[in-house]
Amino acid sequence: MCGIVGYISNNSPASCENVAKILIKALEKLEYRGYDSAGIAILESNGEKKIHMIKTKGHIKDLCALAADKFSTLENCRAGIGHTRWATHGEPNDVNSHPHMSYSKEIALVHNGIIENYLELREFLTKHDYKFLSQTDTEVIAQLVEYYYKETHDPVKAVRTATNMLQGTYALAIIFAEHPDMLIAIRKDSPLILGLCENRNMFASDVSAMLEYTRDIIRLSDYEMAIVKADSVTILNRFDEEVEKTPVKITWDANAAEKDGYDHFMMKEMMQQPTAVRNTISRYANGTRIDFGLKSITREYLKNVRDICIVACGSAYHAGVVGANLFEKALRIPTRAQIASEFIYSDPLINENTLTIVISQSGETLDSLQALRKAKELGSKTLSIVNVEGSIIAIESDDCIYTQAGPEIAVATTKAYSAQLVVLYMLLGHILSIRNDDASIESRYLSECMEIPAMLESILEHKEHIQHLASLYQNCESIFYIGRNLDYALALEGSLKLKEISYIHSEAYASGELKHGTISLIKPGTLVIASCTYEPLFEKTLSNITEVRSRGAEVIALAREGNTKLESVADHCVWLPKCSQMTGPSIAIVPMQLFAYYIAALRGCEIDKPRNLAKTVTVE
Ligand code: AGP
Repeated sequence: MCGIVGYISNNSPASCENVAKILIKALEKLEYRGYDSAGIAILESNGEKKIHMIKTKGHIKDLCALAADKFSTLENCRAGIGHTRWATHGEPNDVNSHPHMSYSKEIALVHNGIIENYLELREFLTKHDYKFLSQTDTEVIAQLVEYYYKETHDPVKAVRTATNMLQGTYALAIIFAEHPDMLIAIRKDSPLILGLCENRNMFASDVSAMLEYTRDIIRLSDYEMAIVKADSVTILNRFDEEVEKTPVKITWDANAAEKDGYDHFMMKEMMQQPTAVRNTISRYANGTRIDFGLKSITREYLKNVRDICIVACGSAYHAGVVGANLFEKALRIPTRAQIASEFIYSDPLINENTLTIVISQSGETLDSLQALRKAKELGSKTLSIVNVEGSIIAIESDDCIYTQAGPEIAVATTKAYSAQLVVLYMLLGHILSIRNDDASIESRYLSECMEIPAMLESILEHKEHIQHLASLYQNCESIFYIGRNLDYALALEGSLKLKEISYIHSEAYASGELKHGTISLIKPGTLVIASCTYEPLFEKTLSNITEVRSRGAEVIALAREGNTKLESVADHCVWLPKCSQMTGPSIAIVPMQLFAYYIAALRGCEIDKPRNLAKTVTVE
């Protein structure tokens, strides 16, 4: 949530307009993290030693217009900070937007995270005659840094003392008018990455914002503070001792974060699903064997593990529901999927015999991170399934399996979800083969997984059929998704995709549960999307379809080719290639993603950046 960036160069002559352009360009790459307001603050190096700031409610394009006005004539500016916001404290408006200035206007900062004790700190500062303009927790940090700066006249000491008083999460970029030759960056639980270049340096919440300038990066750890100058970067640990960190080279293709001719990132990412799945399989397939390169989670541990708990949020949780279902059935040990935000406070029954699997695309989701920490505290081994390399969840878990989906930009996840599912199938094959001492199991699971990409391709090739169905139902007020067993897990994800980007009310229901209350909402014309890929319960789902149809519902049914019985009970059938039982959810989710996409497009919704959402959710 929220994207921050800092940039400093010693290019001469340096115009303010250039610094603003670089900051804004970086913010455009970070906009997926939050997009209700944006702002930048720039340091004037000579003469007055002043901070110039612009900020506004709305998107980055609104900021560009302001920047052109304000910065075109300013010279001698070499450094600045920027922010794109997802509001937590205070509505999205110009005043609550970042950067926030200290009372004397000598310090400006941007923040990603939440300060839990901000009211106490605000009270403390108010007693010392500080006044506040905004409702944000961030403004309190700016004033607090100033309070200590006035005492010490030392920016490093002031930032350290102030941040030591903060409870909560933060990544901060701070500038001081009196020190135009440096930026300060510090973090706890929110990401911050330094980008090293010649004659200039920068940092940001995400590598993508810096790829145009550098591929040499350093990830800051919790409590580390970076003093960033144009020709040097000094990193201090929490005791203010200097630490040496070796830069890592990023090998990503910078184009990965471009739309490549598609109207939306979501469409591009749906189309990339066959590749995402293929790459994930080939990273861990070693001939007919599966090798995740796990170090801490040994074969011995997997052989004896007594129960498994999968924790995640949103779509990653839905992948976990599929996984839990398959794991429990095949391994015959208790396996459950839990929503991370509930898990943390549920006094979970886990111990050293439990394997906790945390699934997260971003590797940054705070609820999932806290669930991971809780599991570790209780003695459980932790394994994460993460897409973003080097992210906090990946680093803090005992072992990590990286999905190979590549950068995912659209808020609605598609290719990362598909890659998570395939990792779960392979992991199941791996554990099962260890427990049964039978290598052929791995080879069988691998073969099933290898069939997925071609089936995804065949669905994506015929997407016009789904587009047509979307055009028929674009004006629905409410849409129900039903299914049993794995199809229920699928229904959860299909329904989330639809409500997330089209704003149509939607419910996912286990088909057998409808008659216990929800069926009262079905009336003539209500659209029900029924998944019928789980063969053992096909007949039962068929009966549930008949029940809703006899109450006037219109039904789109998804099933494997050949289930002709469906033709007489559903209004429309979406035929899927003949996939295995296990891989059904991977195949059937694609028409659901497409349906959500086309309906949202027809309704004119902002598909890649749906209202009120952000790609990475780093608040509780
Ligand atoms: C899915 O489309 C959502 N954007 C959301 O539910 C997401 O899956 C969830 O916030 C978890 O994110 P993560 O995978 O990055 O942890």
